[in-house]
Amino acid sequence: MPLTWTNTLSIGIRQIDLQHQELIELINALEAAHASGQRQAALEEVLPKLSAYVLFHFATEEAMMPRTLGDHAERHRLQHQVFTERVEALRSMPPERIDLAELIAYLKQWLVEHIMKTDRELARLIAANSR
Ligand SMILES: [Fe+2]
Repeated sequence: MPLTWTNTLSIGIRQIDLQHQELIELINALEAAHASGQRQAALEEVLPKLSAYVLFHFATEEAMMPRTLGDHAERHRLQHQVFTERVEALRSMPPERIDLAELIAYLKQWLVEHIMKTDRELARLIAANSR
């Protein structure tokens, strides 16, 4: 099942919401390629695009974290780092050993949970900070 963007996923910062929508589209494109048997396209075209976009997106979020967020910024960056390392470790494996279904399930679950908990907390703290 592809991920669908709904307002529930909105954190109230337009730039970030748009990037999250783009990430969802890339994950869905990966799933569509996998589902239609285009494994090579999934691994050589969609996955590199997705991992490059993830880095760009994390940098956008991290640039928004004021110093005063302290504890949050540290935890949030660590989550980004763990995710990036997991995806990079996977990409460095021999392609025939990559379990795409498992990867797609991980990406979806991680992204939704991260948005709902951590990114929303960031948005709340930014709003509170600007008051
Ligand atoms: Fe984040």
